Amino acid sequence: MTYSLQNKVILITGAGSGIGRETALLMGQHGAELVLSDINVSAGEEVAALILEQGGRAYFKAADVANASQVEALHQYIVDTCSGLDCAINSAGIEHDNLRLTDCDEELFDHVIDINLKGIFLCMREQLKIMQAKGHGHIINLASVAGIKGAPTLAPYAASKFGVIGLTRTAALEYARRGIRVNAVCPSFINTPMVQRSLKMMDEKTADSIRHASPMKRLGEPLEVARTLAWLASDESSFMNGHSVVLDGGLTV
Ligand SMILES: NC(=O)c1ccc[n+]([C@@H]2O[C@H](COP(=O)([O-])OP(=O)(O)OC[C@H]3O[C@@H](n4cnc5c(N)ncnc54)[C@H](O)[C@@H]3O)[C@@H](O)[C@H]2O)c1
Repeated sequence: MTYSLQNKVILITGAGSGIGRETALLMGQHGAELVLSDINVSAGEEVAALILEQGGRAYFKAADVANASQVEALHQYIVDTCSGLDCAINSAGIEHDNLRLTDCDEELFDHVIDINLKGIFLCMREQLKIMQAKGHGHIINLASVAGIKGAPTLAPYAASKFGVIGLTRTAALEYARRGIRVNAVCPSFINTPMVQRSLKMMDEKTADSIRHASPMKRLGEPLEVARTLAWLASDESSFMNGHSVVLDGGLTV
């Protein structure tokens, strides 16, 4: 490894499962001081405990990213507990049933947008305030390939992820002069509990076509996303701003 996360304070939302969990474990091994957050308290606390067992540093603070006052409390906790906030990985998000747009009701649309898009907005707003005060920082949002091309049967999810890229690019332009960078990562199908739940809802033929959708003919692994996030969070990515790293095994090429 040629990069370091030593003594960087890094917040990871959605740290209790999948990409957030794997990223927390990897960053913990590389010396980051981690603030983990999730709506699922037991899952988040378990990840923090694992990092401590491995000799790393991690705190857990529960928050629902769609709830403004909980998001504020999470970031106040960071201000009170840590020396600042060097990097935030906004990974909390949800999937939904595969439905054509006309079959999506308003409640489903609002729910997905609330967590996947408003949740990122609320978190970024607090993160930018802390980072501005310190004059530096890096925000990395989990978007998706569904945020760069259409995703049939996933209209609310795709809308939320296109929105995340809009927030990412806009904030990157607004805050670059204040020493803050904002980037996104766009994975395709990664072998996490989220994708396993989605595959279970499909018939075997469709599920198999998803598993083999990329030219590499396999799902991505959470560790493959975590490694990219860890590199991005390091100073090695110092001139990268406003961009979306696509991790899809060549699916969208
Ligand atoms: N797995 C994939 O193939 C894939 C592909 C593209 C993008 N993504 C994105 O990556 C991120 C992580 O996905 P994953 O596959 O690791 O999912 P996951 O379901 O394994 O983990 C998501 C975590 O977010 C938490 N969470 C959900 N709602 C929350 C809320 N309101 N507040 C706080 N935490 C909440 C969950 O408790 C869970 O721990 C998501 O934003 C997802 O949309 C995933």
